[in-house]
Amino acid sequence: CKVAVLISGSGSNLQALLDASAQAGAPFSVCSVISNKPEAYGLTRAAEAGVTSSIIDHREFPNREDFDQALIAEIDSCQPDLVVLAGFMRILTPEFVRHYSGRLLNIHPSLLPKYQGLHTHQRALDAGDSEHGATVHFVTEELDGGPPIVQAVVPIKKGDTADSLAKRVQVQEHVIYPMAVTWFAEKRLHMLDDRTQLDGELL
Ligand code: GRF
Repeated sequence: CKVAVLISGSGSNLQALLDASAQAGAPFSVCSVISNKPEAYGLTRAAEAGVTSSIIDHREFPNREDFDQALIAEIDSCQPDLVVLAGFMRILTPEFVRHYSGRLLNIHPSLLPKYQGLHTHQRALDAGDSEHGATVHFVTEELDGGPPIVQAVVPIKKGDTADSLAKRVQVQEHVIYPMAVTWFAEKRLHMLDDRTQLDGELL
């Protein structure tokens, strides 16, 4: 299974996927890394892993549609089976989402449906929650609203800041994202009528 990974920043989730794909018998490989930011550290991670990467800078396009068309062209040049958003900080057009329907995953740093959008860690702290986490989900046209695949839950501890909480969540992100991609690569994971099917069961 060939996977294209889209990033905008540090790429620690990309690293987790690269590490998983390097394991003996891994059912997937990363065929392309694409960043909308030239300075994204994830590009260095791709280079160190020997994976082809490219930069498609959204600022060079007059509108979202043109940017997304360029993204599609670049992604499809490696003919991936799966497209993975890993800290990719751009909202995608409905055309893009439809083009990859059922083979487009995202990881969001909250226990969806709680805290769609930004600043999730601070919002969980402000709400006085006792737990927080991350969700891998299929991407649909509804932002952070596609069917969930797997969640990781972490405790919120006394004295936590948004940063300390983000770090605790990220450790778990690096576990559940490779897990979900592995399921997909093993053909155990599908999106059916906007629902997640895992091992033949609708979640
Ligand atoms: C992660 O926290 C992810 O949940 C969110 O963006 C962050 C990306 O981090 N969507 P990294 O670039 O993978 O280190």
